[in-house]
Amino acid sequence: MRTDLRALRRLQASGEPFPVVTAYDYTAALLADRAGIPMILVGDSMAQGMLGYEDTLPVTVDDVVHHTAAVTRGARQAFVVADMPFMSYQASVEDALRNAGRLLKEGGAQAVKLEGGRPVLDTVRALTGAGIATMGHLGLTPQSVHSLGGYAVQARSSDAARSLLEDALALQAAGAFAVVLELVPAELAAEVTEALDVPTIGIGAGPACDAQVQVWHDLLGLSLDFTPRHAHRYVEAGAQIREALERYAADVRARRFPTEAQTSHLREPVDLGGRTLEPGEAPTGTPEGATKGGT
Ligand code: KIV
Repeated sequence: MRTDLRALRRLQASGEPFPVVTAYDYTAALLADRAGIPMILVGDSMAQGMLGYEDTLPVTVDDVVHHTAAVTRGARQAFVVADMPFMSYQASVEDALRNAGRLLKEGGAQAVKLEGGRPVLDTVRALTGAGIATMGHLGLTPQSVHSLGGYAVQARSSDAARSLLEDALALQAAGAFAVVLELVPAELAAEVTEALDVPTIGIGAGPACDAQVQVWHDLLGLSLDFTPRHAHRYVEAGAQIREALERYAADVRARRFPTEAQTSHLREPVDLGGRTLEPGEAPTGTPEGATKGGT
């Protein structure tokens, strides 16, 4: 059965933090689902790991619809939240409704997420009023990277901390079902978590949040150039994949791949018009076969 908002509230009420992960494709969603992750975020962080952009700004609604549809084909149990990309909701509430609608209708998402506090309250009200479950995102909001001046921890001053707390309460009052806190001091994240009824979902916001979210590529060691300090690489999948590809390439070059195991043969002679091809005529790989992985 698919996780729904009531199930998420039950998870929150249990007092045990719940895990959230980003995913952008079918296989990743299947894996997250089978690992029992109750919520998947199709984040606009697809910009870097999937699409090769420097930041999230170029991501389009079509990009998010495409990746969300792949994720929802794989995730049968997780609650799937699709990110609203830059300029899909900032210009008007009508834009926001139309684009969020696409993420649900075409992408199959159960909810959407957008960045910002008080400036997006009308939008959050309109979305939730239209029956679209909406998640907030405060602290480091990557779509504002240029106006923020980089990817630094936010809300360290008294004014900024008070403002973030007010934003979080206002998002909740506007109908947000959860609030992501990204790169926020742990003490402030704990205070916001205490103040809100809806779950906080932390990323670089310390352990007190109701849930933690991590980016797929960071978590699995697929970020090849940079891993943020808040991430823990649970596996070096990037290094393992590269090593496998190098062994594959070496096997192809040395004719160790394909072996008999990957090869089909004729069952009877075939007349090519002037020449008869006999079963077993094509040379195949060495009997030793392809190299095996070390682990
Ligand atoms: O796009 C994303 O992956 C996100 C998470 C960092 C919360 O917004």
